[in-house]
Amino acid sequence: MTYSTNHDNLLNQPLELPCGAVIKNRLVKSAMSDSLGNGEGDPTNAQIRLYERWAEGGLGLSIIGEVQVDPNFPEKPGNLVLSADSDLNALHSLASRASINGAHIWPQLGHAGGLSYTPISHPKGPSALNIDGFQCAGMSETEVSVLPDIYARAAVLAKDVGFTGVQIHAGHGFLLSQFLSPLFNRRKDQYGGTIEARCRIIVEIIAKVRSVVGAEFPIGIKINSSDQLEGGLTQEDALEAIRILDKTSIDLIELSGGSYFPGAISSSDCSTKGPYFIDFAKKAKNITSIPLVVTGGFKTRGQSLNALTSNSTDFVGLARALVLDPELPNDWLSGVDSEVEFPRFETPPQGGITAWYTMYLTAIGNDNEKK
Ligand SMILES: Cc1cc2nc3c(=O)[nH]c(=O)nc-3n(C[C@H](O)[C@H](O)[C@H](O)COP(=O)(O)O)c2cc1C
Repeated sequence: MTYSTNHDNLLNQPLELPCGAVIKNRLVKSAMSDSLGNGEGDPTNAQIRLYERWAEGGLGLSIIGEVQVDPNFPEKPGNLVLSADSDLNALHSLASRASINGAHIWPQLGHAGGLSYTPISHPKGPSALNIDGFQCAGMSETEVSVLPDIYARAAVLAKDVGFTGVQIHAGHGFLLSQFLSPLFNRRKDQYGGTIEARCRIIVEIIAKVRSVVGAEFPIGIKINSSDQLEGGLTQEDALEAIRILDKTSIDLIELSGGSYFPGAISSSDCSTKGPYFIDFAKKAKNITSIPLVVTGGFKTRGQSLNALTSNSTDFVGLARALVLDPELPNDWLSGVDSEVEFPRFETPPQGGITAWYTMYLTAIGNDNEKK
């Protein structure tokens, strides 16, 4: 398939993923955990409306944050869950209304591992840890060996109810990010040690998911460019992980950074000037031909066009900007340079900025946000 490469129009250019699926433009709504599930893992009307509004807003691909593959390890009580107990009709409604206007809609397959929400779970990561007031149990080799099947079951369910792809969450300090990180992963078996070994479970999960969803269904992944945490995943190891991913059947790699580990920096709480991970994306571009999304700190059409025209990335990922203005893609795609103003907070508590955006998501889903 060939498309014109007029730079001014680059935001509007469709792109074909390795599996053959086409994303209609270069704007991706990055995953945001919205806490709008019904508490039993199923979608609510407000959640369905939230994703419908984003699809109306013109984006090419919309990713639903933190859709759990195992109900025992949620990031929050309001997460969606893809399991045998799921309400298939409600999930089908979500998938169909969130994909109006030609938008792709992918659940982000999550498992919080050692960062599982303690009031309702017993956190368990790659290794048992007790550091800086943080505690979790470690997974046995058998528990690790069943992860590919758990992710594969969730991916099949996602496909069956009408989602148009899936993203595997391996960023921000949750389970698969913990496997990548020497800080969390102290395993002495085949899943710990070198970066190849720390990547092993991810490669196995991708292979298993691919074997059940077929060659034409998009599978993406979100990974950190670094954990920005002492002892965590470094940039060098993250680039090595991309080299390894390049040899898998993954269709789209989203680059992010930071962690929700207590006391660490997360990019959704970050107030420094963006975009954040462009330099890393340029390095990643040199070592993989798999399409990339870079996410973090984008606020303007100009920044997005620069990232695309400099060939640093194939897609631009937006999170907070699309909370502040769900219609932003329509503006940018039609050439209107509307810019969002990220609110400033005086000394917010850790997680406070992200929590503010989460509340705003509820208002959008109820069609009553402040304009
Ligand atoms: C309210 C909120 C919830 C988020 N939840 C998730 C999530 O579930 N999964 C994820 O990968 N990232 C999550 N993020 C991070 C974003 O996807 C994104 O990586 C980060 O906010 C930086 O992009 P931005 O500067 O465009 O906001 C969340 C961000 C916000 C603001």
